[in-house]
Amino acid sequence: MSYRIIFATSNEEKMKEIREILGDIGLPVLSQKEAGISADIVEDGDTFEANAMIKARAVHELCGDIVLADDSGLEVDYMDKAPGVFSARYMGEDTSYLIKNQYIIERLEGVTGSDRSARFVCVIGAVFPDGHEASARGAVEGWIAFEPAGENGFGYDPIFLLPDRGVTTAELSPEEKNEISHRGKALRAIRPVIEEWVRTHS
Ligand code: IMP
Repeated sequence: MSYRIIFATSNEEKMKEIREILGDIGLPVLSQKEAGISADIVEDGDTFEANAMIKARAVHELCGDIVLADDSGLEVDYMDKAPGVFSARYMGEDTSYLIKNQYIIERLEGVTGSDRSARFVCVIGAVFPDGHEASARGAVEGWIAFEPAGENGFGYDPIFLLPDRGVTTAELSPEEKNEISHRGKALRAIRPVIEEWVRTHS
């Protein structure tokens, strides 16, 4: 039996990282777009796990392949883990990250040291051809910086400080960020689950 892995995204940057980590698993790895699947999915779950599974199930229903989907975001402990699952929509989808990042820094005014703790979280959801489901979580721990720094990356990277290195994730090269990224960790965690399912269904 030959299987395909379809990743429920059309984001080419994500697909690059996905192929780096899952490319040599021995199965074709296609983006949803490459597989010719279009789906209008409402991500209305309360958790990263719920949203990743909503996306994976929706695409799996359309193709029946091994389908993976991710959901990710920033949790700021001092803000009760906001923006969390609302990271992309926080303060409105069209609000610039310059404004979102400045707002978070202002919310943490007077907060010092480890009370500024935060993390990027990524959950990969998987649905297999027989309906079996699994998920894996990866996180990178950091602090909210006192001011934005760095030009690389996207979203909340300029305010996400790695305290050990004294730089934000926007100051890392793409290669350096991939090495520590929440998505990379989640992908490396789901890989053996996929390998095991394929081993037992071949
Ligand atoms: P998505 O689930 O990968 O589309 O990510 C949701 C949102 O989380 C993004 O739009 C960003 O706001 C935020 N986010 C996720 N990963 C990162 C990251 O690595 N750096 C900065 N922001 C991120």
